[in-house]
Amino acid sequence: ERPAALVNLREFEAAAWERLDPVFYDYFAGGAADEITLAANEAAFRRRALIPRVLRGQGPPRLGVTLLGQEASMPVLLAPTAFHRLAHPDAERATARAAAEAGVIMIAAMLSTVTIEEIAACGPRLWFQLYIQPDLEFTASLVRRAEAAGCRALVVTADSPALGRNERAERHGFHDLPPGMYCANMAEGGHVRQVALSPEISWRHVDRLREMTSLPIVIKGVLHPGDARLAVEHGADAIIVSNHGGRQLDTTPASLDRLAPVAEAVDGRVPLLLDGGIRRGTDVVKALALGAAAVAIGRPTLWGLAVGGQAGVARVLALLRRELAGTLALCGAATPGEVTADLVEEVASLR
Ligand code: FNR
Repeated sequence: ERPAALVNLREFEAAAWERLDPVFYDYFAGGAADEITLAANEAAFRRRALIPRVLRGQGPPRLGVTLLGQEASMPVLLAPTAFHRLAHPDAERATARAAAEAGVIMIAAMLSTVTIEEIAACGPRLWFQLYIQPDLEFTASLVRRAEAAGCRALVVTADSPALGRNERAERHGFHDLPPGMYCANMAEGGHVRQVALSPEISWRHVDRLREMTSLPIVIKGVLHPGDARLAVEHGADAIIVSNHGGRQLDTTPASLDRLAPVAEAVDGRVPLLLDGGIRRGTDVVKALALGAAAVAIGRPTLWGLAVGGQAGVARVLALLRRELAGTLALCGAATPGEVTADLVEEVASLR
């Protein structure tokens, strides 16, 4: 399938399934354990209705937003996802070029298959996702590289004190990257460091990170209001409400269901982002209504990359942009900031 022939993100998923090695497809698509959270993420959007306002006499929707001082053409970011080379030989380079062309922010994963410097050479709007390593010297070296490459924020993934168990990967015996692929940011002088997803990591490490850098710090993977408050107290500049796309702790609620409680705890002190299950422009608007300043997409980027490299990711972003503009217009909102809480309701007819 050519990317231009596909008309929505679901079709990209189906086309990626046809094209990808089943082992890699399952690595991307899968979630932890029974995949209850994975399914819940999308179901939470389906359950909610949009209640549009009419006859508001507005001009065409303007989608641009400013996040942590950085302008973006729409409130949709690329969530950090590992190992883009499993989807396409151009890997994260293709993703970064598509993001740059679309004017959206890409959160580059620490576990990328090309280096952060190479990714930065392909696209200007970059944030860097970090798994804080217990070796703080090494963590500091990654932070300095991200700063030097021009990344404009550090996204600390907090929901991974251990690796989530993906039973699809286990069934396939998929434990290591194929020969020739590796975590490029972890390579030092001919050897590749093991990544530590460590239970030792705590708010103390976030404090150390705060001393290491003047970049904005975003805490990713918050579901509990208590942690949202702690994130603000420890100097976080933004929070991503996320359950890691259902890949870490199974049976957590849909991330969308945690947005309102986290928003209440944060009380406007820092902007909130949301990821998990965003597949339509209507989903973006529902997240905005429930308190998100922007959303991020994980798997849809990988489906685009698998189907058509840079052009595939570009098409995924173009489709979401068109849907978002259309949804805003039909809801009577001219900008993302005009999406108010009263536009969304849980209703029996959509259960
Ligand atoms: C991820 N995610 C992720 N998050 C992170 O902080 N660091 C990482 O290395 C990865 N790697 C990763 C790989 C793959 C294959 C997937 C699907 C996801 C989680 C990601 O950032 C995001 O939270 C979810 O993907 C959002 O859910 P959707 O959009 O995939 O439903």
